[in-house]
Amino acid sequence: MELPVNTKGVFRLGILISGSGSNLQSIIDKLHRGPSGIEVALVISDDPEAYGLRRARRDDIPTAVFPLGDYPDREEHDIAMADELEKHGVDLVVLAGYMLIVTPALLDRFPYRVINLHPSLLPAFPGASGIEDAFVYGTGVTGVTVHFVDEGCDTGPIILQEVVEIQYNDTVDSLRERIHAVEHRLLPRAIELISTGKISFDEKNPRRVIIRD
Ligand code: GRF
Repeated sequence: MELPVNTKGVFRLGILISGSGSNLQSIIDKLHRGPSGIEVALVISDDPEAYGLRRARRDDIPTAVFPLGDYPDREEHDIAMADELEKHGVDLVVLAGYMLIVTPALLDRFPYRVINLHPSLLPAFPGASGIEDAFVYGTGVTGVTVHFVDEGCDTGPIILQEVVEIQYNDTVDSLRERIHAVEHRLLPRAIELISTGKISFDEKNPRRVIIRD
């Protein structure tokens, strides 16, 4: 399979969000219109009230809203989003706090071009409440994962992971804060690694991502 690499001098991101967009902000601050040619070409939200949309507009980044309820089913919803992403010439789709499952209707149009950020050390604690689930379970460590998206829920090949320790006096909020700080570093790093062609797959085990850095 062919991974997206910046060969044209510009590498266009389509970022999908559902809420605050602090990870979108870290991508804007660290990568957008910087020396690496990475550009946030489009921000999509399923929620018209998502604060991340304001962050994008503040930087004159095009936005689009696709509420799930406006479509007969998830496939139609994802086809409309994929059309919009293609219209904006997006090289890589980044799920940065996007809370809906993405269906093959979109994934098949962007093979190995969709990545997701998840706030746990996958495969532990997949799903919508990874931080809370690890905390309640009582693990000593949790963390952050950036992975390619496949049809499952948080199951695609892992690109980067970083451990976050859970301290005995932590609350869910204090843990969330430290996890977010790691996310804000890890996601831009993964995007840079992909855009500069430093990522490939182990020929013998296509789940295994190899990083040449
Ligand atoms: C992040 O913790 C991400 O891992 C999870 O949703 C959260 C989004 O945060 N999927 P933000 O909207 O980027 O602030």
